Amino acid sequence: MKKKILTTIKKYWNSLESKYPVPTYVTKIKEIEFKALKDILDNKKEHKVKQLIRDMYIKKYAFILRNASNSSLKDTIIKLSSKYDKKKPSFHKMYDGTPNFHRFIDKKITKKYSVYAIKHSYFFYNWNIKTPLEKKFKDEVYRHWRYVKFIAGNSKKAFENNIPSMSQVDRLQIIKYPLGGGELRDHVDPRKNQRIVSGLIMSKKGEDFNSGGFYFRGRNRQKVNLENKLKIGDSVMFYGSIVHGVDKVDPNKKLNWKSKKARWFIGMFVNDSDHVKDRLTAKDLTKSVSVVR
Ligand SMILES: [Fe+2]
Repeated sequence: MKKKILTTIKKYWNSLESKYPVPTYVTKIKEIEFKALKDILDNKKEHKVKQLIRDMYIKKYAFILRNASNSSLKDTIIKLSSKYDKKKPSFHKMYDGTPNFHRFIDKKITKKYSVYAIKHSYFFYNWNIKTPLEKKFKDEVYRHWRYVKFIAGNSKKAFENNIPSMSQVDRLQIIKYPLGGGELRDHVDPRKNQRIVSGLIMSKKGEDFNSGGFYFRGRNRQKVNLENKLKIGDSVMFYGSIVHGVDKVDPNKKLNWKSKKARWFIGMFVNDSDHVKDRLTAKDLTKSVSVVR
């Protein structure tokens, strides 16, 4: 039975994608409880599944998935980040055996990436998930991510146990956008491995920071900032070709890489590994980076 609904989802995506152009801007921000999404998929409510897919693709809606994670996940990522902070920052390409690592992506380093961002990132791969804290982190993130993969037309566990030589790998990223200018500029994400992008919100505007945050581009290229609506534990889910970014977080403050007071976020993505020639990455639309792909 399970197979059947997944086949329906895949076929439906393929038919819409062959008939309509990809969405590039957002028209509306809708809200749905994560539990409701889970119910629609678990109980194979085909009509509602198709409606959601149409909403994301043809109607260009983005969804706030309410309570996609437990709010204690915030505590877990702060603890995890503190552990990694004791290790030297580093960088490792995605080859078999690549370790987890963290890196400060500042004005200079960001030029090496395909999208301009000012952030402190902590990268996690499933083959390195060993400590109870890492397991707790993984379990809570995947509770949400498996359903996002499913609505996007992949099986719930697709890619989860892959290693880089298999070409595609899951990667979790804890991101700290520092106060004093943490940002992510206009970009689109590749749809090759996952049509739908989602990420977990781990900070509250007005408490952890005062300005900036997540936005989409609207019909007239205007910024549609949704940060006021977001709560810790929510996730934002949308079709990856819709232009989005993170507006500078508290740009009037002095840039602070050390403080835990920042805008925290958990990104999750199925990446082409470095074993893939001409691997697809996100695309910056602001000409801020020099990498040409
Ligand atoms: Fe993105």
